[in-house]
Amino acid sequence: MNHEIDTLREWIAGSDNIVFFGGAGVSTESGIPDFRSVDGLYHQQYRYPPETIISHSFFAANPEEFYRFYRDKLVVRGARPNRAHLRLAELEREGKLRAVITQNIDGLHQAAGSREVIELHGSTLRCYCERCGKRYPVETVNDSEGVPRCDCGGVIRPDVVLYEEGLDEQNLRKAIGYIREADVLIVGGTSLIVYPAAGLINYYRGNKLVLVNLSETPRDSEADLLVRGRIGEVFSQV
Ligand code: OAD
Repeated sequence: MNHEIDTLREWIAGSDNIVFFGGAGVSTESGIPDFRSVDGLYHQQYRYPPETIISHSFFAANPEEFYRFYRDKLVVRGARPNRAHLRLAELEREGKLRAVITQNIDGLHQAAGSREVIELHGSTLRCYCERCGKRYPVETVNDSEGVPRCDCGGVIRPDVVLYEEGLDEQNLRKAIGYIREADVLIVGGTSLIVYPAAGLINYYRGNKLVLVNLSETPRDSEADLLVRGRIGEVFSQV
């Protein structure tokens, strides 16, 4: 892996237009399980598969059950940014990294100090009334019991994108813009199988596509540089 790390270090040193695109693997070293690894969220036992529970139709039909799972498994308590989050924030401060595009909903990039963060799947740190749109403090959802209700009677929901729901258009356009213009695109900690997010790398036009992941992804053969390793460890060396 040393040779790959050297190359990544050189590419980072030589660029002021790096874009990072990541997923759940970026936060595992902060103690948050990813979705698809053997000890990930999708390999635990519930009455329904997690993909079903975090879908729009399930939320509409069984909000109690949705909230039990959501508070137990998706709300993150006490997690701290790891070396990957911290180094990415530093690269932005150094004027080298333009944006972090993430599928994560844990807010750890912002906690690390990153400013330009595009949250494709929303955030567990925000919530709003489904009916009237009123915003509520995050505790209204995360630290309450049962189904939280707005003054207007509507259900308060987390600002996260559920299965069957579309991604925010403006976010997508921004992400595509950054990726299209990027000199170095670093993709890390994502299985690259959930669309449309995974399709974003198709917009990259450069010749420095870096994939940093613990396991294989369907896009490995397209990488100009493949780094197989833990992302926090990798970023602590570049
Ligand atoms: P996945 O769980 O599908 O993939 C995480 C990837 O990160 C796996 O390929 C792991 O091998 C890798 N990984 C884990 N720890 C790592 C580490 N320390 N360093 C490097 N790689 C590591 O998560 P995502 O690709 O983010 O969507 O999943 C995409 C979407 O599926 C999520 O945003 C979520 C989920 O359903 C929604 O909830 C809408």
